[in-house]
Order: sequence, then structure tokens, then C-alpha cells
Amino acid sequence: MRKPFIAGNWKMFKTTAEAVKFAEDFLKLYEKDDVRVAICAPFTQLAALKKAFEGTGVAIGAQNMHFADNGAFTGEISADMLAEIGVNYCIIGHSERRQYFGETDESVNKKLHQAFAHDIVPILCVGETLEQRDAGREYDVVREQLVRDLEGLSEIQMRHMTIAYEPIWAIGTGRTASPEQANEMCGAIRDIVEELYDTDISCDVTIQYGGSVKPANATELMNMPEIDGALVGGASLKPEEFIQIVNF
Ligand code: 13P
Repeated sequence: MRKPFIAGNWKMFKTTAEAVKFAEDFLKLYEKDDVRVAICAPFTQLAALKKAFEGTGVAIGAQNMHFADNGAFTGEISADMLAEIGVNYCIIGHSERRQYFGETDESVNKKLHQAFAHDIVPILCVGETLEQRDAGREYDVVREQLVRDLEGLSEIQMRHMTIAYEPIWAIGTGRTASPEQANEMCGAIRDIVEELYDTDISCDVTIQYGGSVKPANATELMNMPEIDGALVGGASLKPEEFIQIVNF
């Protein structure tokens, strides 16, 4: 049985002081239950958040990492550095990184291997543009991303993986995929995992939906059978909004 998993992606928002304030306010509202919760914050906030969420069940995640162990890569952060802080998750291949920072399926694949090698659970993001959906190519696009991104990952790694379906046209636009559209693609992703691995693994893998998830649409999305959770951008920045999504 898959446990629902709600993760916030803060993107490039909040200073450390603001992050700690968020944690204090959120923890006043949060009651641990059967939902996994994580906050994926900018690198500089991770140590403070780890401390603030200690013993509460709220996990922390990064939003990117480099695929090499170390080296002359100015401005980059390694998996070791994240693991030392106790980072539990790392978003990999977010469409904003693919679009603005030259992330490719090849680098995404290397990063997935690197994350697992350091016991960091990846949240792999895939999704199509509006143009691709309008052309009826959304399934092919997502399939191609998955086949390339997942190359060489073991069965055990796949079992622990989280995949986030984030249609690019729904990110930060206020235009959510309908629960049916989101469910259909999450189901298609599960079928692809089944095809690449096996039925057991496809039943275990966590598949989130992301793109304009808000308190007003969270319940409907989360009640869909193929959707196991949400990757939440804007609405994860305010404790009083994020808690409503966590308590969907
Ligand atoms: P919004 O929830 O702000 O649309 O962002 C979604 C997202 O990109 C999460 O990774």
C-alpha cells in the first residue's frame, strides 16, 4: 500500500529566517498522521530546516544536486554535502532546471544514480509542454523522458523512487490539470514502470502530481486512484495553505 506523499518545492523563495519561521508556524498546525511530508528548500536553508523539523516526521529535500562526487564545478553541490546535512529527498529534473539550466535526460539519469548511491531518495520530475499536449504527443514525451531518465536503475531503487508528473503548462499558471487528466498520465507512468520493470514495482512506486495544486483542488486530485501525492510549488510557501494540502 502506497503512503500519500506531499512535498513542497519552495523554488528560489525564503531566507533562512523565513524558513525557520515557516517551520515554527507549520508545526503548530501539523499533526503527524499517515501522510509523508517533505519540504524541498534552497540549499542554504536545509541545515536550519533539518534542525527545526527534528523529531517531527517532516523530511527535508534539496531541489538539485551535481552528479559527480566532487570536482571543479563552481557553484555546484554534491550528494555527499546534502547527505551530511541529513537531506532525505532531492528533486531531480524539474522542468525549470531542464528549461533554464540545460538539464538533459542524460544528466538527470546520472543524478538519479548519484542520489541513490548516497541514500537520498529522488523525486524525478517529468511532464510535457502545452505545445506537445496540443499536438497529442504528451504520452510519447513522458515515455521518452522516463525511458532515458531511468536507464540502469535497479529494481530496488525503482521501488523507492518518487516520480512527479508535472505538466509544464500547469506550473505556476493557476491552470491545473483536471483530476482525470492528471490521473490518466499518472496511470500511464505506472504502466511504463511496469513495462520497464514489473507489476510489483509499478505498484510500489510513488507517483505525485504537480502543477497549481492548492487547498481548493488537493482533495479531488488526491482522491484519484493513480495519484499518490503532490509536489506543491506556490501553495507550499504559506503554512496555513500547505497544511490544508497535507490534510487533504
Ligand atoms: P506550482 O504549484 O506553483 O504550480 O508549482 C509546481 C511545481 O513546479 C512544483 O515542483
